[in-house]
Amino acid sequence: MYVEKEIAQANLSVPESLTSALAELLNPKHETKPALDALLLPEGRATIRAKAGTKGASTKVSSFEKPELKEAIVELEGESAYPRPNGEDYFARKWGDFTDVEVLKKSRELGQYVLLYGVPGTGKTAMVEAAFPDDLYTILGSGDTEVADLVGGYVQTPSGNFEWVDGVLTRAASEGKVLLIDEIGLIDPKVMSIVYGLMDGRRELVVTANPERGTVKAKEGFYVVGATNPNVAGVRLSEALLSRFTVQAEMTTDWSLAKKLGVPASAVVASQNLSKKMESGEVSWSPQFRELLAFRDIAKSFGTKFAIQNLLASAPELDRPVASDVFGRVFGEIMLPAKI
Ligand SMILES: Nc1ncnc2c1ncn2[C@@H]1O[C@H](COP(=O)(O)OP(=O)(O)OP(=O)(O)O)[C@@H](O)[C@H]1O
Ligand SMILES: [Mg+2]
Repeated sequence: MYVEKEIAQANLSVPESLTSALAELLNPKHETKPALDALLLPEGRATIRAKAGTKGASTKVSSFEKPELKEAIVELEGESAYPRPNGEDYFARKWGDFTDVEVLKKSRELGQYVLLYGVPGTGKTAMVEAAFPDDLYTILGSGDTEVADLVGGYVQTPSGNFEWVDGVLTRAASEGKVLLIDEIGLIDPKVMSIVYGLMDGRRELVVTANPERGTVKAKEGFYVVGATNPNVAGVRLSEALLSRFTVQAEMTTDWSLAKKLGVPASAVVASQNLSKKMESGEVSWSPQFRELLAFRDIAKSFGTKFAIQNLLASAPELDRPVASDVFGRVFGEIMLPAKI
């Protein structure tokens, strides 16, 4: 849990003016402390881990008003649904007194950058796509991501000449769009340092590889969201980068939403049970949102027992006995990992 440690250690200085700005943003009643406390959900579904001010020049608080949820088009038993670019709906989740999508949009207005972290398949990417469906660029980070992937580089044209092509960060900055840096923790911290100037008061990017491109000033609207799974080997985030993400939350599986979306209640109960065992260190795995949705679909076609055995077969080998026991108890029948 290298990132968790780093996050905990990050020495975040919080200019009071900006703390109250965020509090005001997230609490229309101007109750500073309760507003921040409200973001700590008792269920632990989304937890603000750290906050700090940025020197963001675009921070506008005084004109802030609670925006209308114009985009909400579907209601699923009280859930707001936002269409994602792939046509699927994202059902907003609660984050303090707001929906997660609202918090993302408002944080963009304030120039407070959001970092989402959590185990795979909990909806990090889906949430950002739902919040910014029309002006979002995404880069999937890895250990091989280079500065050129972000800033740009020269590519050879059919005529043999070399032409400069902006990278995704340069495009997002010059067009005032949102950049989701997915799996940000896998990118070499030295590479990530290229975003520092854009994410602080300077709001500019110096393109050293192409002096003609010069210094790119971030257009209004430019915004960065980071997402990472802290448990993956090799994840590293520098303190300088962490301190620029002033709103941080862990995304976990929303069990009640899983049920509302048609995941059999017993499968949810068994998964919650395993999740508790994971927290206490008894197992290293428990089914998350993505697996539960797949469970739902597989159960529809092949039957519930098939889906359980399939899920157990996808558990890490060491955890299979405990997982089989938990599912067996909940479903009242011996369950074993699928074998053919
Ligand atoms: N709130 C939600 N409403 C509807 N579908 C959701 C929601 N959250 C997650 N999903 C679905 O769950 C699946 C996993 O979501 P997503 O890919 O966003 O997870 P992730 O946290 O980005 O995972 P990874 O760490 O592997 O990148 C997707 O199929 C997505 O559509
Ligand atoms: Mg993702």
